[in-house]
Amino acid sequence: MGTATARRPSVLRMAGGGVHFDGLKAVDDVSIEVRSGQVVGLIGPNGSGKTTTLNLLSGMLRASAGTIRLDDVDLTSMSMRKRVRLGVVRTFQSGRVFARLTVLENVEAAALGSGLGRRRARALAAGIIDELGLRPDADRRAESLTAGRIRITAIARALACRPRFLLLDEPAAGQNESEAVSLIRSIRGFAQDRDCGVLLVEHDMAVVMQTCDHLHVLDSGRTVAEGAPADVRRDPRVIEIYFGKRH
Ligand SMILES: Nc1ncnc2c1ncn2[C@@H]1O[C@H](COP(=O)(O)OP(=O)(O)OP(=O)(O)O)[C@@H](O)[C@H]1O
Ligand SMILES: [Mg+2]
Repeated sequence: MGTATARRPSVLRMAGGGVHFDGLKAVDDVSIEVRSGQVVGLIGPNGSGKTTTLNLLSGMLRASAGTIRLDDVDLTSMSMRKRVRLGVVRTFQSGRVFARLTVLENVEAAALGSGLGRRRARALAAGIIDELGLRPDADRRAESLTAGRIRITAIARALACRPRFLLLDEPAAGQNESEAVSLIRSIRGFAQDRDCGVLLVEHDMAVVMQTCDHLHVLDSGRTVAEGAPADVRRDPRVIEIYFGKRH
């Protein structure tokens, strides 16, 4: 068919999602969505439910309330492995890589795992390594890297899985503001070129202001604000959470 049937943007959506641990409502009635090509920032104080929200969307945890859908496919009770096959891929706060493989081998292995042949996997891995600034470490074993470089290698692996939606848990942890912005902008560029949606957990308001299209703010497991970054930053509840305790 012709160009009139260009691919419709996809949406990953949790509606009224919740989970509790021994009576603690870690995530409580949260509705959040990410569209193809969009970068949504998920922010909030420590323990507000950001990682748990990623766990629900990725299938690490089963939601005890609400639904999770990728377009018209119901993911709510689908395993993490099946969600990955549909293109919903997450990274971890700590970064997970094969310690004995080099950075390039780590990224190539992820590309091979996504079904690419060896030549295409190698080309994709090389491109990702360049875009994320990993070239100087490409031939070093992951076990010899700093925690920050391991985390970037884990992100490179996630990108090599060719996700439709990428869920990132504090990808820039331990980096300063300008390094964080530059890393997230690289991820953003890569994702947008491939029409991939990104849900980004990040603590730093200054960083998300510079990198996200849309923000979603959690506090004690509940949504307290969402919208365009400039509006969210002016929201009195967000000001209270981020700055209130200092006054
Ligand atoms: N497996 C678990 N068992 C019990 N409680 C948990 C579990 N995972 C998370 N929690 C609790 O749920 C709440 C939300 O935790 P979560 O890790 O989602 O917060 P977060 O926003 O990612 O915090 P941080 O910024 O510190 O990473 C916290 O009170 C946490 O202690
Ligand atoms: Mg967390």
